[in-house]
Amino acid sequence: MSRSLKDDPLWYKKAVFYEVFPRGFYDGNNDGVGDLAGVTAKLDYLSWLGVDCIWLLPFYCSPMKDGGYDISDFENVDPSYGTEADLIELIDRAHSMGIRVISDFVMNHSSDQHPWFLESRSSKDNPKADWYIWRDDDTQYKDARIIFTDVENSNWAWDHVRQQYYWHRFYSHQPDLNYENPEVQEAMLSVVKKWLDLGLDGFRLDAVPYLFQKVDTNCENLPQTHGFLKLLRREIDSRYPNRVLLAEINQWPADLVDYFGQDDECHMCFQFPLMPRMFMAIRREQRLPITEILSLTPDIPPNCQWGLFLRNLDELTLEQVSDEERDYMFSEYAKDTRMKRHMGIARRFAPLVDNSRSIAELLHSLLFSLPGSPILYYGDEIMMGDNIYLKDRDSVRTPMQWTPDRNGGFSLANFEQLYLPPLLDSVYGYPAVNVESQFKNPGSFLLWIKKLISVRSNYEVFGIGKMEVLHDDNPSIFAFVRFFDDESEREIKVETEHSQDVDNIEVEDQVSVNRVLCVYNLSRFAQPAELDLSKFKGARLVELSGRVIFPQITEGSYRLTLGPHGYYWFEISD
Ligand code: NOJ
Repeated sequence: MSRSLKDDPLWYKKAVFYEVFPRGFYDGNNDGVGDLAGVTAKLDYLSWLGVDCIWLLPFYCSPMKDGGYDISDFENVDPSYGTEADLIELIDRAHSMGIRVISDFVMNHSSDQHPWFLESRSSKDNPKADWYIWRDDDTQYKDARIIFTDVENSNWAWDHVRQQYYWHRFYSHQPDLNYENPEVQEAMLSVVKKWLDLGLDGFRLDAVPYLFQKVDTNCENLPQTHGFLKLLRREIDSRYPNRVLLAEINQWPADLVDYFGQDDECHMCFQFPLMPRMFMAIRREQRLPITEILSLTPDIPPNCQWGLFLRNLDELTLEQVSDEERDYMFSEYAKDTRMKRHMGIARRFAPLVDNSRSIAELLHSLLFSLPGSPILYYGDEIMMGDNIYLKDRDSVRTPMQWTPDRNGGFSLANFEQLYLPPLLDSVYGYPAVNVESQFKNPGSFLLWIKKLISVRSNYEVFGIGKMEVLHDDNPSIFAFVRFFDDESEREIKVETEHSQDVDNIEVEDQVSVNRVLCVYNLSRFAQPAELDLSKFKGARLVELSGRVIFPQITEGSYRLTLGPHGYYWFEISD
């Protein structure tokens, strides 16, 4: 079915996102490195899966010492990924299929190979001397934490050319840009416009909280950082409709929600605090880690949205948990010390859950029903594994496994040429785990997740409805209702239902449902649930995937039995 883009300013609230590492997705020219042409070649697959928006990890010129987050030219495509024409082709083809494309915008730092830095370090009085943060000693901003604690011991690095120290929050080869300098702000805004002019639908903003520094603070979340984000948002809103800013802000809920502003900063932020707690809840077999963090999370402006994820290109970060919780997570999920990277666990989803299909279904159902838009990491839809013997986060960035053939169908290059070795072990290796085999197997996780995407996409209430957690005396049961209540939400809904399809395209029929009940059993044993649904008295529950009608709701508590790691999504139907 051909689709094209809906003219819907709130598209990101209803979208399913898919994170693509172009280097690892598909090799379009068989040189051993995935590229943009390779992503284009696989758009049919993403469309078939039901994805609404692709997030491309950085494809800009880079020495690739940090997966492309070390950029040496913000305005050009790295030759190993192809050309600007390849990017335009990718965007145009994706749009013609109704898929949006966003990409990373690494705003905090550049590579030390960037011409701006090379010029800046060359003397103390060159035109770019002040584009980075230089000091004669390394004592300022002592209260700023070191993010990559396992590899860096200071946020200052000595530059032997300029004979001064420069500031960096990540690797020392990634000097931070000096946002106090208006020229830097202007240059970065012009980078943004360049890519939006080519048709990108927005950005995943990398490392947002660290743009500014101030003595006697931890140099995170400063008012000036919010000021720059507001400026960025104004620039985008004034010229580029229907774009999204999805921000990487690894902070506690109270600081995190500030980045939505009054709906005048980022449209979306990743729900970092929730992510590790979903893994915690499943091991503890209790809902508390999830409900606790949700209750600590303030409401966000109506047009804003959480970006929900289970895994991504990085380690499962444990920055936003207590020391005790971190110890617990390491002891449960990183039994081999090689699994620990930075302050987290560099493993993929499937090995984290011991390849358990029932846990995988449970956690993905949660991901697709909690308030926010789900973001899948490439390969997790087939439950790909990881390689903890590779350095840094390469462990979770191995080639996508398309077929059981040579190199997992990722590339026809010689094995030795590949940017990383594909997995070959007997459980997760490409002969056992690949798209082609799962496509043919009706019971596969791939087909299950395709179905999940399609069910979710049919019920807008998951994307834009509110949430109310229901109490159950059984701590293993997590139940909540997603609902539309007041007129304004209905208006949003009605407006988007009637929004014009740009090319008169077919879109799957959306079912107008105002209330959905979600019930989860976080335990590995069967569990009873007793829910107080009396305010829906007289209504019926209709299970969403099979449309099976359950008994009518009455005054007393509503009883359900859930199998091990079982779950239900019900329409609450009048
Ligand atoms: C966040 C990215 O997700 C991570 O991969 C990278 O190392 C840091 N930003 C530094 O750019």
